[in-house]
Amino acid sequence: MEQITDFLYKYKNYNFAIGPTNAEYIDSLQSFDIQNSDIFLVTYPKSGTTWAQQIIISICELDGGLTKYTNNFEQMPWLEYKVDPQDYALRPSPRLFASHLTPALMPPGLKDKKAKIIYVMRNPKDNIVSFYHFTEVFSSMETPKNFDHFFEEYLMGNVLGSSWFDHIRVWHSKRDEYNILFLTYEDMVLDLKAAVTKICIFLGKNLSEAAIEQVVEKSTFKNMKKDSKANYDFLLKEMLKGDFMRKGNIGDWKNTFTVAQSERVDQLLQERLGDLSLKFIWE
Ligand code: PPS
Repeated sequence: MEQITDFLYKYKNYNFAIGPTNAEYIDSLQSFDIQNSDIFLVTYPKSGTTWAQQIIISICELDGGLTKYTNNFEQMPWLEYKVDPQDYALRPSPRLFASHLTPALMPPGLKDKKAKIIYVMRNPKDNIVSFYHFTEVFSSMETPKNFDHFFEEYLMGNVLGSSWFDHIRVWHSKRDEYNILFLTYEDMVLDLKAAVTKICIFLGKNLSEAAIEQVVEKSTFKNMKKDSKANYDFLLKEMLKGDFMRKGNIGDWKNTFTVAQSERVDQLLQERLGDLSLKFIWE
């Protein structure tokens, strides 16, 4: 474990927040027992995790099979941060977990392809801007000097979750080893109902048209902003000094990026992920 900033340490080539986890716990995930009904949501930070959490939880609730917890973050805890003292083996199924981890750090039992993984990707320009604003309001993260400084740190992977480029590459290149559905934040913005339906089908949940509409309603930006179970409003103000639900749109990067910064990201996408034929929606 190597401390790299006041807020981050590197372990197994991945940047963790100092405090809520440790090397021993991360190692223990290598023997984490996977159940066939488990559902994992995997994202790079600021890619739509909280949104997809709300969708998955609402689908499972309407499907009739969910024991209720106080809020979405207890209902679908972070795999890498053991905040719940209860043994996860005792959780009722389906167990739901969220994670920003890379495949090498995930429980190997996921490779038997019975448990399901939903991976949400967001275009990196909006991702950087969302991440930057989050560092300004979240007290457990280093506040960057300014956007230009954060932009450089992000491109070097010196942030929580390490490199966005590596995260995307490694999860796409390992896709055949897992039972995984890839979605994008932008698809969710452009057609939420289609995204909810896709998730329902992947999870094998046969919801009625009316139930799908209900999931969509609960998951709109406007409604999540008011839903204290889903939007981190329960965090202390000293911890989160602004709104978690900030803008929730595509193309906000245009208000922040210089032309040169935009071209740099385009070039890096070409160099580092050009062979993956990914499609990005920028506005
Ligand atoms: S985290 O901290 O990694 O869990 O953050 P994450 O939830 O992945 O990403 C936060 C961004 O997702 C936006 N968000 C939404 N956008 C549209 N619709 C809905 N319902 C929604 N819920 C969350 C949230 O506003 C953050 O994006 P920005 O661009 O900062 O607004």
